[in-house]
Amino acid sequence: MSVIQVKPPLADIQIDDMRESDLPAVMEIERQSFSSPWDESSFRDGLEQDRQHVYFLVARHRQTPIAFINFWVVEDEAHIANFAVSPAYRNRGVGKYLFAWSLAYIRKLGGVQVFLEVRVSNIPAQNLYRRFGFQIVALRKKYYPDNGEDAYVFWLSDLAAIDLHLDEMGSE
Ligand SMILES: CC(C)(COP(=O)(O)OP(=O)(O)OC[C@H]1O[C@@H](n2cnc3c(N)ncnc32)[C@H](O)[C@@H]1OP(=O)(O)O)[C@@H](O)C(=O)NCCC(=O)NCCS
Repeated sequence: MSVIQVKPPLADIQIDDMRESDLPAVMEIERQSFSSPWDESSFRDGLEQDRQHVYFLVARHRQTPIAFINFWVVEDEAHIANFAVSPAYRNRGVGKYLFAWSLAYIRKLGGVQVFLEVRVSNIPAQNLYRRFGFQIVALRKKYYPDNGEDAYVFWLSDLAAIDLHLDEMGSE
């Protein structure tokens, strides 16, 4: 079992459910992060659905959203659909912290296997996923309509295979 120790990267950082009042800051991060950003209704609709399967979380620094993640959990399977850190806060461990926190949460919800798609050119994200034991299991050709780029499917087959230790959340 691989042990992953993650500490809060900043003082005053908190992870919480996304709220409607977070949407202006979240949309700014979304537009700064992706060449084909989701529109606001995609977030708003997700926030309005019942919370049984769909989860939107934000990391706030001094109350301001600096990163977010969206994932679905259906039975033992989780799909991470959106994930970004504000450019001003990258390379400081924020993404790793929010991702680790989310995996621990997914496990509490009964998730065992986790998958996501990532652009083949997105090396920073791929490195992050590999750090948690994710592996490439498929290539989706021309997955992204904006430039026809391929996607790798990254998969973690068993969340129990990683021993997550998260400060402030307690060890898993
Ligand atoms: C991918 C992303 C979420 C990483 O967030 P971050 O807060 O900058 O990442 P962290 O500082 O926590 O770094 C965690 C790990 O990611 C990898 N990583 C992060 N930035 C990297 C970079 N510029 N180059 C290579 N690897 C990088 C490293 O493995 C790093 O671990 P290490 O520092 O211990 O080596 C962020 O770059 C981002 O929002 N990108 C745009 C949106 C996006 O691509 N989302 C994912 C879509 S699938």
